Amino acid sequence: MGDGGRHDNDKLKGAGFSTRQVHSGHIQDELGSVMPPVYQTSIYSFRDSEHGAEVIREREAGYVYARWGSPNSRMLEAALADLHSGAGAWTFSTGIAAVNFIYFALLRAGDHIICAESLYAPTRYSLELYWSRFGVEFSFVDATSLDAVAAAVRPNTRHIHIETPANPALRVSDIAGCAQIAHDAGARLSVDNTFMSPLLQRPLELGADIVMESLTKFVNGHSDVVGGALVLADKELCDSLYKPWYTLGATMDPHQAWLIQRGLKTLKLRVLAAQENAQAIAQYLAAHSAVSAVHFPGLPSHPQYELHQRQASGPGACISFELKGGLAAGRALMDRVQLCTRAVSLGGIETLISHPASMTHVGLSSEERAQAGVPDGLIRFAVGIEDSADIIADLEQALV
Ligand SMILES: Cc1ncc(COP(=O)(O)O)c(C=O)c1O
Repeated sequence: MGDGGRHDNDKLKGAGFSTRQVHSGHIQDELGSVMPPVYQTSIYSFRDSEHGAEVIREREAGYVYARWGSPNSRMLEAALADLHSGAGAWTFSTGIAAVNFIYFALLRAGDHIICAESLYAPTRYSLELYWSRFGVEFSFVDATSLDAVAAAVRPNTRHIHIETPANPALRVSDIAGCAQIAHDAGARLSVDNTFMSPLLQRPLELGADIVMESLTKFVNGHSDVVGGALVLADKELCDSLYKPWYTLGATMDPHQAWLIQRGLKTLKLRVLAAQENAQAIAQYLAAHSAVSAVHFPGLPSHPQYELHQRQASGPGACISFELKGGLAAGRALMDRVQLCTRAVSLGGIETLISHPASMTHVGLSSEERAQAGVPDGLIRFAVGIEDSADIIADLEQALV
């Protein structure tokens, strides 16, 4: 590492997204490797005692130990910070570790956090089951309503966390509006941007303080690794999280980071292809007689269609839809599909289909599922980059 591990995003100033997704964060090694190698080592040697002291004092001066970051995780962090217009970033072993790090690093006993009620389930359970034991107070509100968010503010509110668009119905929250409410209350706003990726939506540019990505999804894009990241708007806050980050220990392995950075280099090509497919499939589903509702921010019938258009450059590639035939129709669809893969998750190159009532939410009663916003006929559809005609043909033969 000739330059002690520094990267140089400055020469990319003014470059477009496609250029930056390929080159941002790259650290040139002494061998001239065009693609970064996997730095598969847990420890790094110091040149002498002075160098050891320098590296311990100043993170940018080099590397110590893989839990404190590797060239691979640092390259990925620099690229994500650049693509999200942030001051810096931290990577994590999973997306949910990144969410928990927000709670761990930024909240203390007696603090109150407001969260959207439509949230990735473990993001919610973690507060309810675990952080509540340490005296963290929380409220879950309908974050599609700025009035509801503002009404939940208390004197001890320190943080607001939203996800947009959010499962299960792809509801959209106003990022700039939530940032204003948070800042007026002396709190911070974090946004789970997993369904959009930095290509389609950049919450920091809209006033959010922190953006969270499950890199497992679109950023990696190949369903072969998990990972997460937080990108921060404020350099000072970002730097202050170095010690809590390596102390918590949910840091990213070099090989994980290498795979995710490889995926990131083709983000725009993949997301635009999947999104174009999703638009065609959403329109097909909206006209299908077996379907009672289609939830997709790219359809003008979506309740926050205009808001989403204002704050994002595209609807993404995740659709949810409801079958008139309820549970039985959902099971039948799952059993009949041939091209679409029955699996949870999203953001990969392959199309995934899941039916929460018979899979992830099978342990709940029909009433409990309805209350959780997951009616028995709800299907989650994560569109890949196959030919849209083939995906539609699969749905056509499977929908009865
Ligand atoms: C919106 C959202 N946020 C966070 C996560 C958690 O990410 P990970 O599975 O990488 O831990 C997921 C995973 O499905 C998700 O869909």
